Amino acid sequence: MRFSERARAITPSSTFAFDARAKEMVRKGIDVVSFGTGEPDFDTPKLIQDAGIEAIQKGVTRYTPVAGLLPLREAICRKMKEDHGLSYEPSQVLVSSGAKMSLYIAFQVLLSPGDEVLIPAPYWVSYVEQVKLADGVPVIVPSTEKDGFRIKPEALRKYITPKTRVLLLNSPSNPSGAVYTEAEIRAIAEVACEHDLTIVSDEIYEKLIYDGNSHFSIAQVSPELQDRTILINGVSKTYAMTGWRIGYAVGPKEAIKLMSNLQGHSTSNASSIGQYASITALTGSQDAFRTMKAEFEKRRNLMVERVNKIPGFSCRKPEGAFYVFANISELLHKTLSGVTINSGDDLADVLLDHAHVAVIPGSGFGMPDFVRFSYATSINRIEEGLDRIREYLSLQLNLEKVV
Ligand SMILES: Cc1ncc(COP(=O)(O)O)c(C=O)c1O
Repeated sequence: MRFSERARAITPSSTFAFDARAKEMVRKGIDVVSFGTGEPDFDTPKLIQDAGIEAIQKGVTRYTPVAGLLPLREAICRKMKEDHGLSYEPSQVLVSSGAKMSLYIAFQVLLSPGDEVLIPAPYWVSYVEQVKLADGVPVIVPSTEKDGFRIKPEALRKYITPKTRVLLLNSPSNPSGAVYTEAEIRAIAEVACEHDLTIVSDEIYEKLIYDGNSHFSIAQVSPELQDRTILINGVSKTYAMTGWRIGYAVGPKEAIKLMSNLQGHSTSNASSIGQYASITALTGSQDAFRTMKAEFEKRRNLMVERVNKIPGFSCRKPEGAFYVFANISELLHKTLSGVTINSGDDLADVLLDHAHVAVIPGSGFGMPDFVRFSYATSINRIEEGLDRIREYLSLQLNLEKVV
């Protein structure tokens, strides 16, 4: 069988690959502490579960309009108004099989061959591949830990060429947890206007922002920015609904129409049951979400404190999402269990094999001297996993055991 150049050029998702390795070890009976997962460890709240069951029993089990059930699109419009003060009509909303699909379709509709997309690093693994699949050219804009993993307008300007079409924004960020302030978003918006850029704003972690802060969407800057932005969101992370596969895109009518046409020839509508349950997620009681968020915040605080006590590791306190992005450059060129550590990939391998702890190497996110920890796991497991790493490294580096 012969395969297309397009398919052969795809780099498999590093997070899925590493997670699969850890799961295989668990299947063999090894007690692995996994900090690899990119999904909440909580069950979908009962209220939403019940809505899914009701959908099945009421017969909401047939094709829906390609763009999604009207009551769901109306609920999304109300959410946009209440959370961001933004007015949209249901014809400006496309519900898809997960936010990942929303992003995929957005790039397919926005890009022509050779169009450049600015992607700030560290970035979520799928952006680069999705841009390439749309014949676009990913242009990576590096950020620094010192700047809180947030790009500055000056840095952005350096990477703009006559071929730049789209700017990808992801706040809060996976993997860094960084959240842009309103002032920073406004400054970036100016660059987008100067250079006539379209913005794809992935706001999937929007509700998971801590310390009493909240999210500011670039679409809120002005009506002009609202017209320039395709905003991506979904229920996966906020409501512990990753398996239900419901995401959505909101944007200018023409863009959504084209995206809907494309979806009509690929997946058609997203799951009718998932859509029905998502109406309850968005419009029902938010108590379960608030409980989950409070737990995430507690875990983040614990994890940041503990990671900074591990020899060779350091991390900043992320403002949102459920990840800690740790700098491991102090461990570079050291030898652990006979392996010379040249990157986060080597370190992640060694930690999985010898400490039985799974972390995700930063290379897949564009920063190889980092590893990502997810705190979508219990406090007990966080303590256990970080103790294992600290003890392993203390022994390997011949440090005194820290009690
Ligand atoms: C930044 C980011 N965007 C989008 C997604 C996709 O979310 P969904 O599960 O709704 O496809 C993820 C999931 O890991 C993510 O981390």
